[in-house]
Amino acid sequence: MLKGITVKITNEGEDNHMETILLHTEHHVATITINREKALNALSTQVLTELNEALDRVNADQDVYCVIITGAGNKSFVAGADIAEMKDKSVEEAAAYGKFGNEVFRKIETFRCPVIAAVNGFALGGGCELAMSCDIRLAADNAVFGQPEVGLGITPGFGGTQRLARLVGAGIAKEMVFGARNIKAERAYAIGLVNALYPAEELMNAALKMASGIAKNAPIAVANAKRAINNGLQENMDGGIAIEVKEFADCFRTEDQTYGMTCFLEKAKEKHFSNK
Ligand code: CAA
Repeated sequence: MLKGITVKITNEGEDNHMETILLHTEHHVATITINREKALNALSTQVLTELNEALDRVNADQDVYCVIITGAGNKSFVAGADIAEMKDKSVEEAAAYGKFGNEVFRKIETFRCPVIAAVNGFALGGGCELAMSCDIRLAADNAVFGQPEVGLGITPGFGGTQRLARLVGAGIAKEMVFGARNIKAERAYAIGLVNALYPAEELMNAALKMASGIAKNAPIAVANAKRAINNGLQENMDGGIAIEVKEFADCFRTEDQTYGMTCFLEKAKEKHFSNK
């Protein structure tokens, strides 16, 4: 935790029924922790359902400007979808499970504010896919990434075939997916799968520091920039530029645009955007 900043646990209280997710907010930053340490935070249906609910709660809290997702303990971020739960699924049940997992991860990818993955150990299968649905990945230097699914007789099912190829290129993605070989943090950094590596004990502080830095900026402008990057990547350059022009111009409806530019011109020492 950042020194001197108090943490509010927002899933305490009578209405809390989440068993596998912890949700904390501090100074405009929400931290979602997958809390199923004994199973290395594997994504059971319960975990996915509660993660989905946690995202909805955070989305409803307009004071949250940045989100961090991490795993409980110091061994694993998420060791994948729950293999025990998946083993006896029918084709139809597998399709429903894949669809639900993909819906939750797409919710993260399109979330109204940035989401940072703090990868504190194994990020395998659905864990690697969860990290890839986040905007930014920071990792502990003992993290391990991989898509080991073909070794279990299945393909990646929560977006891995799509996002890995987009993030690191088709050649390296195919090598990782076809080979089902895990890679260490240094290799993940070298191929651009993670933004930065930290000693394990420094990871959460680094994630909180980055999130706080993002949260200091105009939240509507940050949200517009996220949409421009994500939606622009689906277009050719002309289409992407058209998206950017719209998101840029939309900022001029906001109080924060007038305020931010006035602060610059008046050489203000501090800025506090109002998210309006
Ligand atoms: N599903 C269910 N349980 C899991 C799990 C998973 N993905 N990963 C770990 N666990 C459980 C283990 O079964 C074990 O439970 P018990 O104590 O009850 O036996 C517990 O977590 C601790 O795991 P290990 O004893 O195996 O720990 P380890 O340190 O020896 O190994 C590991 C760690 C290398 C991560 C190993 O647990 C492992 O290989 N896990 C599976 C990784 C994997 O294949 N993930 C992909 C899943 S498929 C998927 O995700 C599909 C998709 O795209 C949607």
